[in-house]
Amino acid sequence: MKQVTRDNRREWFQEWANEYDNTLGKLKRHHKMLDLVVTLSGIKRNDQILDIGCGTGLLSLKFLNKTDCTITAIDSSSQMLRIFQEKIEKFNLTEKIHCSQASAEDMNFKPDRFDIIAATVALHHVKFKEPVIKNIYDCLKGGGKFIIGEIDMDTTGRLDDPRRLLRILNFLNEEFVLAMKEGGMQAFERMYDNGKKHILNDGEYCIGFSQWAKLCKNAGFKNVEVSPVKEFEWFKVLVATK
Ligand SMILES: C[S@@+](CC[C@H](N)C(=O)[O-])C[C@H]1O[C@@H](n2cnc3c(N)ncnc32)[C@H](O)[C@@H]1O
Repeated sequence: MKQVTRDNRREWFQEWANEYDNTLGKLKRHHKMLDLVVTLSGIKRNDQILDIGCGTGLLSLKFLNKTDCTITAIDSSSQMLRIFQEKIEKFNLTEKIHCSQASAEDMNFKPDRFDIIAATVALHHVKFKEPVIKNIYDCLKGGGKFIIGEIDMDTTGRLDDPRRLLRILNFLNEEFVLAMKEGGMQAFERMYDNGKKHILNDGEYCIGFSQWAKLCKNAGFKNVEVSPVKEFEWFKVLVATK
């Protein structure tokens, strides 16, 4: 099987960037998850927020829509960032949002810097999650919140284990039908491509929320709480407090 490197994962997102807002960005369940992330974050005026794997900025813009805050946004794909930067300029938000190209694995922020660190459908691309979550803990202020929105799907295990394949396919069925219904053929094709990557662990390393919660507790987080996205319960949001 082809070796997955961080470079070819980045290339795949470069290619998806132009279609992103017309595929995943069109699905109601994605917006409901992002809205739940913003609500559960308890965001306050003037908060400092870090959005990891910001993509085309859908989550960052929802935070800013909720209240006045300052956002640092990072992503490993320059194409995703280009599209986000166009929106920032169009909406005159250059004072409020600062984007830069960086991977979650290479973040180098000062300790105790952010009130909220959020990542939606981004951290499952990180293969070795433990050091990244520890770094997130360090970058948060005391009492700060870490929030993840992700699919509650465990893709670990032997690649050809039939129980593993069935577990993944059951989740993907829901995704494919939704994509077809709400985003049409273009979204379906994209989700189908994502699905193959989940099955092959090809740049997608999903874990379940009990595993996310354990990683957070091991990093030192308190009050780790998981909430399902209403109507789309196979997506969940985790909030953990430093
Ligand atoms: C499915 S998109 C999610 C974008 C956005 N958070 C949202 O919810 O719409 C995943 C994003 O994570 C980025 N990404 C993937 N691996 C990453 C990594 N290791 N570090 C930072 N960003 C990464 C991709 O380039 C892509 O923009």
